[in-house]
Amino acid sequence: MRWLKWRAALVSFLTLVASAPAQRAEPTICAEEFCRCDSFTAVICNCTSDYEVTLRPDGAYRVPSTASGIIINGCSRVNFLPDLARNLIQLRTIELTNIMDVVINERALSWSPFSRESEMHPGLRILIQNSTVNQLSSYAIQGRVNDIIITDSRIHNVRPYAFSSLTGVRNIELKNNVLYNIERYTFSKFTTINFLLKGGYVDRLPSRFLSDVEITNLFRVEGISVKHISSVTFLVRSPKRVLVESNFIENLDPDGFHVVTKGPITFRNNTVTNFSKGALLGVTVDQEVMSVKGRQELLVDNNTITNIAPSSLIYNQTTLSLRVDGLNLNITCNCELAENWRQLLKEEAGIVTCWYDLEGHYMSVATFADSRCGAFKQTFWIFVVVGLVVVLIAASLITYFVVRRENEKKKKVQIVMPDGKTYRETEFHIVVERAELLTTNL
Ligand SMILES: *[C@@H]1O[C@H](CO)[C@@H](O)[C@H](O)[C@H]1NC(C)=O
Ligand SMILES: *[C@@H]1O[C@H](CO)[C@@H](O)[C@H](O)[C@H]1NC(C)=O
Ligand SMILES: *[C@@H]1O[C@H](CO)[C@@H](O)[C@H](O)[C@H]1NC(C)=O
Ligand SMILES: *[C@@H]1O[C@H](CO)[C@@H](O)[C@H](O)[C@H]1NC(C)=O
Ligand SMILES: *[C@@H]1O[C@H](CO)[C@@H](O)[C@H](O)[C@H]1NC(C)=O
Ligand SMILES: *[C@@H]1O[C@H](CO)[C@@H](O)[C@H](O)[C@H]1NC(C)=O
Ligand SMILES: *[C@@H]1O[C@H](CO)[C@@H](O)[C@H](O)[C@H]1NC(C)=O
Repeated sequence: MRWLKWRAALVSFLTLVASAPAQRAEPTICAEEFCRCDSFTAVICNCTSDYEVTLRPDGAYRVPSTASGIIINGCSRVNFLPDLARNLIQLRTIELTNIMDVVINERALSWSPFSRESEMHPGLRILIQNSTVNQLSSYAIQGRVNDIIITDSRIHNVRPYAFSSLTGVRNIELKNNVLYNIERYTFSKFTTINFLLKGGYVDRLPSRFLSDVEITNLFRVEGISVKHISSVTFLVRSPKRVLVESNFIENLDPDGFHVVTKGPITFRNNTVTNFSKGALLGVTVDQEVMSVKGRQELLVDNNTITNIAPSSLIYNQTTLSLRVDGLNLNITCNCELAENWRQLLKEEAGIVTCWYDLEGHYMSVATFADSRCGAFKQTFWIFVVVGLVVVLIAASLITYFVVRRENEKKKKVQIVMPDGKTYRETEFHIVVERAELLTTNL
C-alpha cells in the first residue's frame, strides 16, 4: 500500500514535469560528457576517448536554440540529424576536427533563418579538418553560407545536391582531401566568389560535380591526382580567371571543363594520360566580355600528355585564342607524328615537343622534323648509311689482304733465317740486314 502511494506520487510528479514548460527540464547537449557550452553558447565537445556525439534539433540532449557555434574535436563519431540547424538563428560556425566518422543527414545544415535573402545577413562558416566524412546526404548543406573549407579529410558517399541552393557564398575550398564515391550534382545551383579544389586524390569526378555554379572571381583546380574527369564535370559560368594547374589526370573526357569565362584560362603544368578530343572545347567566353574585350586567351603551357592527337586540342575559335607555350608529347619522336603536328604548329606559334629516345629528353617536334624527316632527309640518311657500309666493307677487305701479305712475308723471312753456318758469332745482326734486303726485293 505504502509503495503504491509513493508510486502514484512519483507518476503525478513526472506528469507535471512533462506537461509543464517541457523543454526547460530536459538536459541539452551542454550536459553531455566531453561537451560544454561557453558563455556565448557555443557547443564545444572535446573528446579524449571514444565517444559519439549526436546533434539533435529537439528532444533531450538537443543543441540549444541559442547555440552560436558547434565546435567538435577528437570524437569518434559525429552525427548531424535532419533539420538540425533550422531553428538555430544564432548559429555562425561549425568546426569539426579529428573526427573518425562524420555523418551529415538530409537538410541537417539547411539554414536560411532570414525571411529576405541577402548577403548582408550573417552566414555560416563550415570548417572540416582531418576528419572522415562517411556520408553527405542530399541537400545536407543549403542556405546562407559564407565559407565551406574542408582540408586533409576523407570524403565518401556524397549524394546528389549535397551542397545546393546556397546563398552569399564567398569561398569554397577543398584541400588535400581524398574523395570517392561522389555522385552527380555535388555542388549545384549557387553563386560563390571563389572555388578551389587543391591537392589530394579523387577516384572519379562525376559529370556535373559542379552543376550550374556561378563563380564570380577565381576558379582553380590545382595539384590534384584524379583518375577520371567526366564530360561536363565542371559546369561553371562567370569566373574572371580559370587556372587548371599541376594536376595528374589519367583520363580527361570530352568537354570536361564546360566553362563560360569572363577572363583568360590557363591549363598549365598538368600531366595527362588520355586527353580526349575536345576536352577543352566546352570553354567559351561570356557574351558581354566578348563584345567589350574580345576573345580571351586559352593558354596551354608546359603540360605532359601521353595520348593526344592534334585534333584533341580543338577549341572555340570564335571566343578564344589558343596559345601553346609548351606541350610535351610523351611519345617517341617519329616523322609521322611530326607531320601530324605540323598543321597545328603552323597555326599556333607554339612549342610542341616529343620524346627523343636516343638522348632521353624532350625535343622540339619542329627541330626533329627539320633534321630527320622529309623526302630529301630520308634519302640523304639512306645514302649516308649505304656509304658507311661500303667504306666499312672496303676497309675490312684491305685489312684482310694486308694482314695476309704480312703473314706470308714473315713465313719467307723464317725460311731464310736459319743461315748461321759461317757467321755464327754475329748471327743476330746478319738476320736483320737480310730481312731488310729481302723486303725491298719482294
Ligand atoms: C581539447 O582538449 C585538449 C587536451 O585536453 C586541449 O589541449 C585542447 O585545447 C582542447 N580544445 C578545446 C577546443 O577545448
Ligand atoms: C587526425 O585525426 C585522427 C583521428 O581521426 C588522429 O588520430 C590524428 O592524430 C589526427 N592527425 C592530426 C595531424 O591531427
Ligand atoms: C609542376 O607540377 C609538378 C607536379 O607535376 C610540381 O611538382 C611542380 O612544382 C609544378 N611546377 C610549377 C612551376 O608549378
Ligand atoms: C587510356 O585510354 C585507353 C583507351 O581508351 C585505355 O585502355 C587506358 O586504360 C587509358 N589509360 C588510363 C591511364 O586510364
Ligand atoms: C614543367 O613540367 C614539368 C613536369 O610536370 C615540371 O617538372 C616542371 O617544373 C614544369 N616547369 C614549369 C616552369 O612549370
Ligand atoms: C563557341 O561559343 C559560342 C558562344 O558561347 C557558341 O555560340 C558556339 O556554339 C561555340 N562554338 C563551338 C564550336 O562550340
Ligand atoms: C609516358 O608514357 C609511358 C608509357 O608510354 C608511361 O609509363 C609514363 O608514365 C609516361 N610519363 C608521363 C610523365 O606521363
